[in-house]
Amino acid sequence: MEVNHVDICVGLSWGDEAKGKISAQLCKTNNYDFVCRWAGGNNAGHTIYINKIKYTTNIIPCGVFYGVKSIIGPDCVINIDSFMKEINYLKSHNFDTTLIKISPKAHIVTQEHIDEDLKYYTKNQGSTSRGIAPCYRDKYARIGKRVEDYSGILNDYMWDEKLYGSVLCEGAQGYWLDINMGNYPFVTSSNTLPYSACSLGFPPQCIQNIYGAAKLYDTRVGKDPDFPETLLLDNELIKLGEIGEEYGTTTGRKRTVNWLNLDKLIKAINISGTNILILSKADIIKKLNIFKFILNNELIEYDDYTIFINVISNNIRKYCPCCSTVHISDNPYGI
Ligand code: IMP
Ligand code: MG
Repeated sequence: MEVNHVDICVGLSWGDEAKGKISAQLCKTNNYDFVCRWAGGNNAGHTIYINKIKYTTNIIPCGVFYGVKSIIGPDCVINIDSFMKEINYLKSHNFDTTLIKISPKAHIVTQEHIDEDLKYYTKNQGSTSRGIAPCYRDKYARIGKRVEDYSGILNDYMWDEKLYGSVLCEGAQGYWLDINMGNYPFVTSSNTLPYSACSLGFPPQCIQNIYGAAKLYDTRVGKDPDFPETLLLDNELIKLGEIGEEYGTTTGRKRTVNWLNLDKLIKAINISGTNILILSKADIIKKLNIFKFILNNELIEYDDYTIFINVISNNIRKYCPCCSTVHISDNPYGI
């Protein structure tokens, strides 16, 4: 049996776009044979709700919550302790962890990687301190250790590298954190975009829907000159961050908030190949009752929510010919 259908859920911003919740919703409404992570490590954090109970994972894809095989792909990096903690957490909540498999080619994050991250990258670039940059550096220098070198504790989870049927690829981080597309060096060390989901082992022709996720305002956790500290002093944005509860899932850090940059979003939609866009947190922007966004490098304000949404949607329709559907939603527990 071959792969015949691939959907991808990708972040269009700086991570934290509710990809976890959207992937969970897709899992509920489609019959996927696999849900796969194609990049990153436990720097990501996905929050999902099952029967109103909140669950968070860092590396394990959301398929496990729905009885679907869940794969951690060859371009991911694995911290064994943190992975085993996640496995035990899922077991303690009675989820079937035999569904979870890791590519033997995924690279191992070591304590040395974490120490180096803490010493250099956390301080200078605001990394998540999970050892990501040093681990990918060793991978590309071809001196890294892979899952297959660590058989033993990971034996039960070794993937046979077979995919078939219908596949959902669950993105981590987002467009502007991609090592090629983002504001280098203020990026992560992996490829966060659909072009790299094929590293899981299917041809690009199999890709059908690309669900792009963003919020109706921008947030950033970690250093980035595109999010200057002056934003932290803007009372409207401070309020927006408070109403939206903008704290990092993985590190608990406060996110810097800015108005939606539509120029950047349009670019991210087009380059990622997004055909279904999900713009969330409409409830938050309505609560704030201030409707601003950036277009052509200018800050635009409307005093009416409906006009604000219409102008955003119309611009996306005009400049993103491949994006056929725009969903505007509250913090999505469903699309
Ligand atoms: P690293 O991936 O830990 O090396 O961090 C590099 C940059 O990406 C830092 O600015 C992090 O805050 C950011 N980052 C990495 N993963 C995530 C994520 O899942 N959500 C939001 N920001 C992230
Ligand atoms: Mg996240």
